[in-house]
Amino acid sequence: MTTAFSENPISHRQELAGDIHRPVFHFLPPNNWMNDPNGLCYFRGRYHLFYQKNPFGPLWGFMHWGHASSPDLIHWQDHPIALAPEDSAGDGLGVFSGCIVDDNGTPTAIYTGVKSIIDTPILAARARDSSLDEWEKIPQNPIIAEKPEGVNSMDFRDPYVWRQDNRWQMVVGAGMSDNDSAVLLYESDDLFSWRYLGPLLKQRSIESVTMWECPNFFPLDDKFVLLVSLYPNTQGIYYYTGNYDGRVFTPESQGYFDSDGILYAPQVRRFPDGRTILFGWLREQRSDEAIEEAGWAGVLSLPRELALDQHGRLVSRPVREYQQLRMPSPKTDHLSLNPGERLILPITGRQVEVGLSVRRGEGSFELGVAASPDETEFTLIGCDPQDGTVLLDTTHSSLSGNVQTGVQMLSLVETDGEEMRLHVLLDGSVIEVWVNETLSLSGRIYPTMADAENLFLRAGNSKVQSLELFAWEMDSIWDF
Ligand code: FRU
Repeated sequence: MTTAFSENPISHRQELAGDIHRPVFHFLPPNNWMNDPNGLCYFRGRYHLFYQKNPFGPLWGFMHWGHASSPDLIHWQDHPIALAPEDSAGDGLGVFSGCIVDDNGTPTAIYTGVKSIIDTPILAARARDSSLDEWEKIPQNPIIAEKPEGVNSMDFRDPYVWRQDNRWQMVVGAGMSDNDSAVLLYESDDLFSWRYLGPLLKQRSIESVTMWECPNFFPLDDKFVLLVSLYPNTQGIYYYTGNYDGRVFTPESQGYFDSDGILYAPQVRRFPDGRTILFGWLREQRSDEAIEEAGWAGVLSLPRELALDQHGRLVSRPVREYQQLRMPSPKTDHLSLNPGERLILPITGRQVEVGLSVRRGEGSFELGVAASPDETEFTLIGCDPQDGTVLLDTTHSSLSGNVQTGVQMLSLVETDGEEMRLHVLLDGSVIEVWVNETLSLSGRIYPTMADAENLFLRAGNSKVQSLELFAWEMDSIWDF
């Protein structure tokens, strides 16, 4: 079922390589549109990543499952399209999001089929080869034909399946006719016939949210975590952590994961080495016209290892494997800045990692990245060690009128330690910021000027006594 549009991915990658907004160490497809990561799994020594893909153009539509695999979560190889819509299979209008589980050695995809906009059955497909290139949609499809009562006709999708007490369980995202959002729980002995057990969680926590998309439900330390994506999808990812007895989930704490809805529709899996890893979709922040001109849209976050911290927050850090992309000879410095002082950093470029450590209580400062020499374009990461806040300000990141910009903020709490350690990863239009390897912000920036490549530091109104700087240029994950 490999089709013409998946031919020669490397030449598509080469054609787009000159685009300054295109990331080179975050996964994205050869060209055209991508959104959610799907079907994350580890099989015979390789990580496999599937993703929502429109093979026909750079805007959303006619969804397929694209496919890539990696030996190390960082370097990827393109595979042919794995799943394509077929009328006869009950997914003629699209193969929407889902997951993959290992059914006695056979990777099995459980996903949303789009038959019509109000008919979104849950379907399954089984891998037929060890590269996961060939898939067979099973004859028993659909495995869930009807949505339960009370679910809005267009709001039922994104199955997430796991093994629980010697049986299979599944959650599906939903929007309800009483205006609540819900995650619906199912159970099965054989993966193909399912019993509906009722909502795992059902709430109207935020007025403007009409459904929870892409639920993920997984154990982490001694808790269970439920992640939901707040639809309409400008509202980001929300998490609940709590206890689960195999039937009832009792949330204890909750909050936003990451920031302003730029990171969305993540998928989480626990891999054989015990790490629980999340990939998310980093949404474009530019107009459809700008996307059509670019010829591509969508990119994944760096894979992030999840943990619960001492406050019960869901936190993440990029998997250690990305550090192999740091080029030799980092720039390191021990700096102090007088009030208002500005310093150009001895590193430039659009593929950089900057680490900055400072003690709590020091004066505030800003790190500027992707700055043009005349400073008409720049992106700021502001750090206030006194109140423990970090800002990502993209207001001046682009002179183009076709991009959305904004200010995002995160705050440490009192007991988060004596230090603030910032990690800023810039990769073309992607910017990811971590503080203390726990809390994160994600952004997209589109400078128009080819020389918007400078980095600078600027002190606020008081002195910054002591600032440790580490800065690396970052390598590409592609060979060409
Ligand atoms: C989330 C989402 C999913 C759906 C898929 C379609 O971004 O809307 O709910 O399955 O994208 O591409």
